[in-house]
Amino acid sequence: MLIKIPFASACKESDVTPESIYLSRRAVLGASLAGFAFSALPSWAQAADPSRYPDVEAGKPPGWFSDKLTSTKWQAVTVQNEAITPFKDATHYNNFYEFGTDKGDPAQNAGSLKTEPWTVVIDGEVAKPGRYALEDFMKPYQLEERIYRLRCVEAWSMVIPWMGFPIAALLKQVEPTAKAKYIRFETLQDPKTMPGQRSGFALIDWPYVEGLRLDEAMNPLAILAVGMYGRELPNQNGAPLRLVVPWKYGFKSVKSIVRISLVSEQPKTTWQSISANEYGFYANVNPTVDHPRWTQARERRLPSGLFSPNIRPTEMFNGYGEQVASLYTGMDLRKDY
Ligand code: MTE
Repeated sequence: MLIKIPFASACKESDVTPESIYLSRRAVLGASLAGFAFSALPSWAQAADPSRYPDVEAGKPPGWFSDKLTSTKWQAVTVQNEAITPFKDATHYNNFYEFGTDKGDPAQNAGSLKTEPWTVVIDGEVAKPGRYALEDFMKPYQLEERIYRLRCVEAWSMVIPWMGFPIAALLKQVEPTAKAKYIRFETLQDPKTMPGQRSGFALIDWPYVEGLRLDEAMNPLAILAVGMYGRELPNQNGAPLRLVVPWKYGFKSVKSIVRISLVSEQPKTTWQSISANEYGFYANVNPTVDHPRWTQARERRLPSGLFSPNIRPTEMFNGYGEQVASLYTGMDLRKDY
């Protein structure tokens, strides 16, 4: 992963967000406590509001997704005083190597991904393994909107309103055995529809694999997402099901998941296999541990440009330390990066 960081300069959030979104966001964010609030919002903020994201491109939601919108808990978690990244940037500046290595490739090529029907397999150390059509897999879960920072290891960041449900709720359903210590996620492998898997780009040993320690997966912030900006996930963002762990670098957030396995050993992950000294298993956002080829002390908040590069200091655990730091008590995060 290569990056370029331009010079720092000040950039107000009102410079990068349409005024209508900026003003309505300010009103809502004023209602959240300490930048992090589970529910407890005024009732108007709970209702589905199609005008909340006026720049969103309409999708073609499957029936099960539309059915869940009325019970969705909007703005269940928010960030304070930070503008939501415009939809256009979140969907046209992507990493999804199955569709090419340039940031614009996934938007251009991911139309070939077939997300219906979609099957999810649950296996390994669980009392209730299974193979589910996605609409059946999703039945037990209420959707929540989670507005999170996303920090890529390449030192750019965004703020994205995801829609999903806590992994803890899935684990309750499938009942991990006493031997389950980690959870492993696998992306679809289908060279017919994923041009990156047929290209000569041989660095990645497909399928893309990621993993979490079980207690990390149980943290209330860790979710499986099926939507963003009030609609189903666009293909380039990992439709129809992806992981989101906001305190970790973005490469942990594996896209287009087809298999979830509970395992006793730490799974070998894709980026670790490519370059273990650059990309660790934990991959917690940490401004004090640099990537061997660049600093992690700062990040570029998108959208950014030559005249407003929008550089900001990186926050420990991407600003979620209060919720997750205790997971790593006693660990040396320089060694376990
Ligand atoms: N998942 C798969 N299957 N393939 C990928 O190439 N890239 C990762 C992650 N998930 C990737 C993936 C990286 S490096 C990042 S930063 C995020 O997806 C980017 O998510 P976004 O494109 O929705 O912003």
